Amino acid sequence: AFEVKLASSGKVYTIPADCSVLQVLTDAGVFIPASCEQGVCGTCLTRVLDGVPDHRDLYMDEAEQAANDQFTPCCSRAKSTTLLLDL
Ligand code: FES
Repeated sequence: AFEVKLASSGKVYTIPADCSVLQVLTDAGVFIPASCEQGVCGTCLTRVLDGVPDHRDLYMDEAEQAANDQFTPCCSRAKSTTLLLDL
């Protein structure tokens, strides 16, 4: 598990191994536009302000993934204990 923190509210959410960031935040009432939920379309792309994403999408190219400033919450996870999201 890892945590995501929302920059706007300061709220912290734990993401268990069997749930996506998108699922947890949607269930908590945080709206993120999404479509494919498989890391293909890029609709859910979210800015990352701090932390290191574990990119599992097929949407961004290598350089975009290496920049670590955005990720796809429908499928990607975290290498750091916390991701600070621009939400
Ligand atoms: Fe399509 Fe996340 S919803 S990449």
